[in-house]
Amino acid sequence: MIELKDMCYVRLGTRDVDGAVQYATEIVGLEAGGRTRDAAYLRSDGRDHSLVYFDGDTDDHTVGMEVGDMDALDAAAVGLEALGRPVTKGSDAECEARRVGAFINFTDPTGNSIDLVVRPYHHRARYFPARDAGITGFSHIGLRSSDPVRDEEFWCKNFNIRVSDWLGSCGLLTFDQVHHRIALFPSDYPGVQHINHQVETFDDVMRSWYFLNDRQIPIRFGPGRHPTSTAIFVYFAGPDDMTFEYSTGVRMITDPDNDRPRQFPPGPEAFCMWGAMPDIPEFQ
Ligand SMILES: [Fe+2]
Repeated sequence: MIELKDMCYVRLGTRDVDGAVQYATEIVGLEAGGRTRDAAYLRSDGRDHSLVYFDGDTDDHTVGMEVGDMDALDAAAVGLEALGRPVTKGSDAECEARRVGAFINFTDPTGNSIDLVVRPYHHRARYFPARDAGITGFSHIGLRSSDPVRDEEFWCKNFNIRVSDWLGSCGLLTFDQVHHRIALFPSDYPGVQHINHQVETFDDVMRSWYFLNDRQIPIRFGPGRHPTSTAIFVYFAGPDDMTFEYSTGVRMITDPDNDRPRQFPPGPEAFCMWGAMPDIPEFQ
Protein backbone atom coordinates (compact mmCIF):
# COMPACT_ATOMS: atom_id res chain seq x y z
CA MET A 1 0.00 0.00 0.00
CA ILE A 2 1.48 3.33 -1.07
CA GLU A 3 0.51 6.05 1.37
CA LEU A 4 0.02 9.46 -0.21
CA LYS A 5 0.40 12.47 2.07
CA ASP A 6 -0.41 15.46 -0.12
CA MET A 7 -0.86 16.86 -3.60
CA CYS A 8 2.32 18.67 -4.67
CA TYR A 9 2.22 20.05 -8.18
CA VAL A 10 1.10 19.85 -11.77
CA ARG A 11 3.68 20.21 -14.54
CA LEU A 12 2.34 21.30 -17.93
CA GLY A 13 4.19 21.55 -21.21
CA THR A 14 3.49 24.62 -23.31
CA ARG A 15 4.92 26.26 -26.40
CA ASP A 16 4.43 29.69 -24.83
CA VAL A 17 5.82 29.72 -21.29
CA ASP A 18 5.68 33.53 -21.04
CA GLY A 19 2.06 33.63 -22.18
CA ALA A 20 1.09 30.87 -19.77
CA VAL A 21 2.78 32.67 -16.88
CA GLN A 22 1.02 35.90 -17.77
CA TYR A 23 -2.31 34.09 -17.71
CA ALA A 24 -1.51 32.20 -14.49
CA THR A 25 -0.53 35.36 -12.64
CA GLU A 26 -2.85 38.00 -14.08
CA ILE A 27 -5.95 35.85 -14.58
CA VAL A 28 -5.76 32.86 -12.21
CA GLY A 29 -4.04 34.84 -9.47
CA LEU A 30 -0.98 32.68 -8.86
CA GLU A 31 2.34 34.14 -7.77
CA ALA A 32 5.30 33.95 -10.13
CA GLY A 33 8.01 31.90 -8.43
CA GLY A 34 11.32 30.74 -9.78
CA ARG A 35 12.20 30.91 -13.44
CA THR A 36 14.73 28.95 -15.48
CA ARG A 37 15.50 29.12 -19.19
CA ASP A 38 12.69 26.73 -20.07
CA ALA A 39 10.41 26.52 -17.03
CA ALA A 40 8.39 28.83 -14.80
CA TYR A 41 7.21 28.00 -11.28
CA LEU A 42 3.95 29.30 -9.88
CA ARG A 43 2.79 29.46 -6.29
CA SER A 44 -0.67 29.20 -4.77
CA ASP A 45 0.15 28.68 -1.09
CA GLY A 46 3.09 28.08 1.22
CA ARG A 47 4.70 25.52 -1.06
CA ASP A 48 7.66 26.38 -3.28
CA HIS A 49 5.26 25.98 -6.20
CA SER A 50 2.19 24.03 -7.19
CA LEU A 51 2.20 24.59 -10.95
CA VAL A 52 5.04 24.52 -13.48
CA TYR A 53 4.87 25.53 -17.11
CA PHE A 54 7.82 24.20 -19.09
CA ASP A 55 8.77 24.43 -22.74
CA GLY A 56 7.38 21.18 -24.14
CA ASP A 57 4.48 19.47 -25.82
CA THR A 58 1.11 20.72 -24.64
CA ASP A 59 -0.02 17.16 -23.96
CA ASP A 60 2.96 16.52 -21.64
CA HIS A 61 1.42 16.64 -18.15
CA THR A 62 2.73 15.26 -14.85
CA VAL A 63 1.09 15.24 -11.43
CA GLY A 64 3.27 15.24 -8.31
CA MET A 65 2.11 13.69 -5.04
CA GLU A 66 4.02 13.34 -1.78
CA VAL A 67 4.87 10.20 0.16
CA GLY A 68 6.25 10.18 3.69
CA ASP A 69 9.95 9.41 3.41
CA MET A 70 12.69 7.68 1.42
CA ASP A 71 11.74 4.25 2.75
CA ALA A 72 8.17 4.80 1.58
CA LEU A 73 9.45 5.96 -1.81
CA ASP A 74 11.70 2.90 -2.20
CA ALA A 75 8.84 0.59 -1.18
CA ALA A 76 6.53 2.34 -3.65
CA ALA A 77 9.06 1.75 -6.45
CA VAL A 78 9.25 -1.96 -5.64
CA GLY A 79 5.46 -2.22 -5.39
CA LEU A 80 4.80 -0.43 -8.67
CA GLU A 81 7.37 -2.55 -10.53
CA ALA A 82 5.68 -5.67 -9.13
CA LEU A 83 2.38 -4.38 -10.54
CA GLY A 84 3.97 -4.11 -13.98
CA ARG A 85 4.22 -0.31 -13.82
CA PRO A 86 7.86 0.54 -14.61
CA VAL A 87 9.39 3.23 -12.45
CA THR A 88 12.12 5.73 -13.26
CA LYS A 89 14.08 7.36 -10.47
CA GLY A 90 14.64 11.10 -10.74
CA SER A 91 18.26 12.16 -11.29
CA ASP A 92 19.81 14.88 -9.12
CA ALA A 93 19.19 17.41 -11.89
CA GLU A 94 15.59 16.31 -12.26
CA CYS A 95 15.06 16.52 -8.49
CA GLU A 96 16.47 20.04 -8.53
CA ALA A 97 14.15 20.97 -11.40
CA ARG A 98 11.18 19.59 -9.44
CA ARG A 99 12.42 21.15 -6.19
CA VAL A 100 12.08 17.94 -4.24
CA GLY A 101 14.43 15.74 -2.24
CA ALA A 102 13.79 12.69 -4.41
CA PHE A 103 11.14 11.32 -6.71
CA ILE A 104 10.10 8.41 -8.88
CA ASN A 105 7.90 8.59 -11.94
CA PHE A 106 5.44 6.04 -13.26
CA THR A 107 2.35 5.95 -15.44
CA ASP A 108 -1.09 4.83 -14.32
CA PRO A 109 -3.03 2.34 -16.51
CA THR A 110 -4.35 5.18 -18.69
CA GLY A 111 -0.82 6.49 -19.22
CA ASN A 112 -0.97 9.49 -16.89
CA SER A 113 2.50 10.53 -15.75
CA ILE A 114 2.72 10.57 -11.95
CA ASP A 115 5.63 11.67 -9.73
CA LEU A 116 5.84 10.34 -6.20
CA VAL A 117 8.03 12.76 -4.28
CA VAL A 118 9.62 13.19 -0.89
CA ARG A 119 10.59 16.45 0.77
CA PRO A 120 9.00 18.87 -1.71
CA TYR A 121 10.38 22.33 -1.08
CA HIS A 122 8.38 24.86 0.85
CA HIS A 123 8.88 28.59 0.49
CA ARG A 124 10.42 30.92 3.02
CA ALA A 125 7.81 33.60 2.28
CA ARG A 126 4.03 33.53 2.28
CA TYR A 127 2.14 33.40 -0.97
CA PHE A 128 1.62 36.91 -2.31
CA PRO A 129 -0.32 36.88 -5.58
CA ALA A 130 -0.40 39.40 -8.37
CA ARG A 131 -4.20 39.37 -8.28
CA ASP A 132 -6.28 38.79 -5.19
CA ALA A 133 -8.47 35.90 -6.30
CA GLY A 134 -8.78 34.67 -2.70
CA ILE A 135 -6.83 31.50 -3.43
CA THR A 136 -6.03 29.43 -0.33
CA GLY A 137 -4.22 26.64 -2.17
CA PHE A 138 -3.94 24.01 -4.87
CA SER A 139 -6.41 21.30 -3.91
CA HIS A 140 -7.31 18.72 -6.57
CA ILE A 141 -7.11 17.65 -10.18
CA GLY A 142 -9.37 16.08 -12.73
CA LEU A 143 -7.44 13.19 -14.27
CA ARG A 144 -8.21 11.73 -17.67
CA SER A 145 -9.00 8.02 -17.76
CA SER A 146 -9.48 5.62 -20.65
CA ASP A 147 -11.36 3.34 -18.21
CA PRO A 148 -12.50 5.00 -14.96
CA VAL A 149 -13.60 1.72 -13.37
CA ARG A 150 -10.19 0.11 -14.00
CA ASP A 151 -8.29 3.21 -12.88
CA GLU A 152 -10.38 3.57 -9.72
CA GLU A 153 -9.43 0.00 -8.84
CA PHE A 154 -5.75 0.74 -9.56
CA TRP A 155 -5.72 3.76 -7.26
CA CYS A 156 -7.88 2.28 -4.50
CA LYS A 157 -6.16 -1.10 -4.36
CA ASN A 158 -2.57 0.11 -4.38
CA PHE A 159 -2.73 3.48 -2.64
CA ASN A 160 -4.42 4.81 0.52
CA ILE A 161 -7.14 6.12 -1.75
CA ARG A 162 -10.88 5.67 -1.30
CA VAL A 163 -13.98 6.72 -3.21
CA SER A 164 -15.95 9.62 -1.74
CA ASP A 165 -18.77 9.57 -4.34
CA TRP A 166 -19.41 8.46 -7.90
CA LEU A 167 -20.76 10.52 -10.78
CA GLY A 168 -21.85 7.86 -13.24
CA SER A 169 -18.77 5.63 -13.55
CA CYS A 170 -16.41 8.41 -12.45
CA GLY A 171 -14.96 8.08 -8.98
CA LEU A 172 -14.17 11.11 -6.87
CA LEU A 173 -11.13 9.87 -4.96
CA THR A 174 -9.26 11.05 -1.90
CA PHE A 175 -6.46 10.07 0.48
CA ASP A 176 -7.22 12.53 3.28
CA GLN A 177 -10.20 14.47 4.65
CA VAL A 178 -10.77 16.60 1.55
CA HIS A 179 -13.75 15.17 -0.37
CA HIS A 180 -11.69 14.60 -3.51
CA ARG A 181 -8.10 15.00 -4.58
CA ILE A 182 -8.35 13.13 -7.88
CA ALA A 183 -11.50 13.01 -9.99
CA LEU A 184 -11.41 10.51 -12.85
CA PHE A 185 -13.07 11.52 -16.11
CA PRO A 186 -13.43 9.43 -19.26
CA SER A 187 -11.12 10.49 -22.06
CA ASP A 188 -9.46 9.06 -25.15
CA TYR A 189 -6.04 10.33 -24.05
CA PRO A 190 -4.12 10.80 -20.78
CA GLY A 191 -3.46 14.06 -18.99
CA VAL A 192 -4.75 16.51 -16.45
CA GLN A 193 -8.36 17.42 -17.20
CA HIS A 194 -8.74 20.32 -14.76
CA ILE A 195 -6.80 22.06 -12.00
CA ASN A 196 -8.60 23.20 -8.87
CA HIS A 197 -7.61 25.98 -6.52
CA GLN A 198 -9.66 26.55 -3.41
CA VAL A 199 -10.70 30.12 -2.70
CA GLU A 200 -11.69 31.53 0.65
CA THR A 201 -15.33 32.45 0.20
CA PHE A 202 -18.40 32.35 -2.04
CA ASP A 203 -17.71 36.04 -2.69
CA ASP A 204 -14.33 35.11 -4.20
CA VAL A 205 -16.02 32.71 -6.65
CA MET A 206 -18.50 35.38 -7.70
CA ARG A 207 -15.90 38.16 -7.87
CA SER A 208 -13.82 35.97 -10.17
CA TRP A 209 -16.87 35.10 -12.28
CA TYR A 210 -17.36 38.84 -12.98
CA PHE A 211 -13.62 39.36 -13.42
CA LEU A 212 -13.34 36.50 -15.95
CA ASN A 213 -16.43 37.59 -17.88
CA ASP A 214 -15.12 41.12 -18.01
CA ARG A 215 -11.91 39.85 -19.65
CA GLN A 216 -13.80 37.52 -21.99
CA ILE A 217 -12.26 34.40 -20.50
CA PRO A 218 -14.58 31.55 -21.54
CA ILE A 219 -16.55 30.26 -18.54
CA ARG A 220 -16.86 26.49 -18.91
CA PHE A 221 -19.17 25.77 -15.98
CA GLY A 222 -20.90 27.71 -13.25
CA PRO A 223 -21.22 29.45 -10.98
CA GLY A 224 -22.73 26.36 -9.40
CA ARG A 225 -22.60 23.97 -6.50
CA HIS A 226 -21.51 20.33 -6.65
CA PRO A 227 -23.95 17.97 -4.90
CA THR A 228 -21.07 15.56 -4.23
CA SER A 229 -18.56 17.79 -2.44
CA THR A 230 -21.00 20.69 -1.78
CA ALA A 231 -18.31 23.04 -3.14
CA ILE A 232 -19.43 26.22 -4.91
CA PHE A 233 -17.47 26.48 -8.12
CA VAL A 234 -16.66 28.20 -11.38
CA TYR A 235 -14.64 26.55 -14.19
CA PHE A 236 -12.90 28.56 -16.90
CA ALA A 237 -10.60 28.15 -19.88
CA GLY A 238 -6.82 28.39 -19.54
CA PRO A 239 -3.82 28.16 -21.87
CA ASP A 240 -3.52 25.12 -24.15
CA ASP A 241 -7.18 24.24 -23.52
CA MET A 242 -6.60 23.45 -19.83
CA THR A 243 -9.60 23.99 -17.57
CA PHE A 244 -9.06 25.81 -14.28
CA GLU A 245 -11.49 25.77 -11.37
CA TYR A 246 -12.01 27.89 -8.29
CA SER A 247 -14.11 26.38 -5.58
CA THR A 248 -14.96 26.98 -1.95
CA GLY A 249 -16.58 24.97 0.81
CA VAL A 250 -15.45 21.50 -0.22
CA ARG A 251 -16.84 18.91 2.17
CA MET A 252 -14.33 17.43 4.61
CA ILE A 253 -14.81 13.77 5.43
CA THR A 254 -13.60 13.64 9.00
CA ASP A 255 -14.86 10.14 9.77
CA PRO A 256 -14.25 8.08 6.61
CA ASP A 257 -15.13 4.79 8.34
CA ASN A 258 -18.68 6.04 8.76
CA ASP A 259 -19.02 7.85 5.42
CA ARG A 260 -20.37 5.79 2.54
CA PRO A 261 -19.83 6.89 -1.05
CA ARG A 262 -23.01 7.88 -2.83
CA GLN A 263 -23.83 7.11 -6.45
CA PHE A 264 -25.01 10.03 -8.58
CA PRO A 265 -26.45 9.36 -12.02
CA PRO A 266 -24.41 9.74 -15.20
CA GLY A 267 -24.90 12.90 -17.21
CA PRO A 268 -24.13 16.59 -16.81
CA GLU A 269 -27.15 17.42 -14.59
CA ALA A 270 -25.59 15.63 -11.59
CA PHE A 271 -22.66 18.05 -11.51
CA CYS A 272 -24.65 21.03 -10.19
CA MET A 273 -27.32 21.49 -7.50
CA TRP A 274 -28.40 24.79 -8.99
CA GLY A 275 -28.92 23.66 -12.59
CA ALA A 276 -25.77 25.02 -14.25
CA MET A 277 -24.78 22.93 -17.26
CA PRO A 278 -21.10 22.28 -18.05
CA ASP A 279 -19.47 23.25 -21.31
CA ILE A 280 -16.83 20.57 -20.63
CA PRO A 281 -16.84 17.46 -22.83
CA GLU A 282 -15.62 15.11 -20.07
CA PHE A 283 -18.56 16.14 -17.85
CA GLN A 284 -21.21 15.23 -20.44
FE1 LIG B 1 -12.95 20.00 -9.60
